[in-house]
Amino acid sequence: MRIAMVGSGYVGLVSGACFADFGHSVVCVDKDPAKIESLRAGRMPIYEPGLEALVAETVRQGRLTFRTDLTEAVAQADAVFIAVGTPSRRGDGFADLSYVYAAAREIAGALTGYTVVVTKSTVPVGTGDEVERIIREAAPDADVSVVSNPEFLREGAAIGDFKRPDRIVVGADEARAAEVMNEVYRPLYLNQAPILVTSRRTAELTKYAANAFLATKITFINEMADLCERVGADVQAVARGIGLDNRIGSKFLHAGPGYGGSCFPKDTLALVKTAQDAGSPVRLVETVVSVNDQRKRAMARKVIQACGGAVRGKTVAVLGLTFKPNTDDMREAPSLAIIAGLQDAGATVRAYDPEGMEQARTLLPDLAYAEDPYDCAEGADALVIVTEWNAFRALDFERLHGLMAAPVVVDLRNVYRPQDLEAKGFRYTGVGRPE
Ligand code: UGA
Repeated sequence: MRIAMVGSGYVGLVSGACFADFGHSVVCVDKDPAKIESLRAGRMPIYEPGLEALVAETVRQGRLTFRTDLTEAVAQADAVFIAVGTPSRRGDGFADLSYVYAAAREIAGALTGYTVVVTKSTVPVGTGDEVERIIREAAPDADVSVVSNPEFLREGAAIGDFKRPDRIVVGADEARAAEVMNEVYRPLYLNQAPILVTSRRTAELTKYAANAFLATKITFINEMADLCERVGADVQAVARGIGLDNRIGSKFLHAGPGYGGSCFPKDTLALVKTAQDAGSPVRLVETVVSVNDQRKRAMARKVIQACGGAVRGKTVAVLGLTFKPNTDDMREAPSLAIIAGLQDAGATVRAYDPEGMEQARTLLPDLAYAEDPYDCAEGADALVIVTEWNAFRALDFERLHGLMAAPVVVDLRNVYRPQDLEAKGFRYTGVGRPE
């Protein structure tokens, strides 16, 4: 298959490299010449484990190339994927679809022969209809089908998720389009990944429903964690106790400082708006959004409490800034609200993150950045683990005890066992666990 990937951001690049690895011939297109230039030189615009090596290998084998102009790639393609950004529109929270529609217009002008145009970007229900309308208006003679094929990749695990998906959802209203998509994903037959063919609108909604459900699961266990703290129960045992029930499932029941990232916050909000507009509000998801927003700031109060009720004049060391490990992504990271809350309360905050500090510097200019966890903890009155990077899972607490002004640890990801740290002389606070 010949594939054109329009948009070489996170989704486009990972999908393009994986399709090329499957044996397809892929052109990744992006309007940003600097990005294309650096991709050609083998430099990745994002941090994603395994991506650089996969891109290098598929480029070497001649199956992956990069262009700034889509004309030739689209003309030759069997399938053209739209993988451009859909940021939240400022003001109303709706997904901003202007990049998607601009891509559709440009693609329309370059189509030759039967082509399947696939939206991979997360787009509200009905966007496929509009993409099709735009293409048909711009190119009335084009032989084209418009399909929805949402992605379910997690940052930090995207390549594995792409190659071993739980399922592939294809929203195709025409059988011949579904056939092309079957060919595109044929290399995954070996892994027996189910390909679910649905209507286009169903596929579009499935993506939002999946993310909203996962966000709800996390928010549910976070509220259980708060309750556990009140009644003296252990949320991790509760999560295991309910998760072993197959109807519930054990994943995404890890209590923490609230979900962040580029997907859950944006997609839950977009679903809320779509549902309101459709006259069928999703009140459960509305509540999830507001509970999660409040939780991030509440985590700052938790730290303040662990410091004896006040942090004015104190130094707090924060380990982990990104919204989760194995990414440099700071979007909607709980660390942003937590650090702001601590600074508002008069604390000096010093932070360390293995990959996120470059992005963090622009968002958190008033922060001191450390060289490593120990440099971060030196002289601190409390150590707060906000993101569970592997580098924070086996810290040398004897060394930390000697370095810190007060032996206080707030572990917002439950990386450690309370009894272990208490045995080492620390005052330990986790999430949803008896102290
Ligand atoms: C999420 C989904 O998991 C993907 O399936 C989806 O494709 C993607 O959004 C998207 O729409 O593009 P991602 O945002 O990369 O992926 O990250 P997750 O691993 O899902 O984590 C999201 C947030 O939830 C993080 O802040 C994480 O720390 C938090 N989380 C996750 C918890 O607090 N507890 C958990 O048990 C799981």
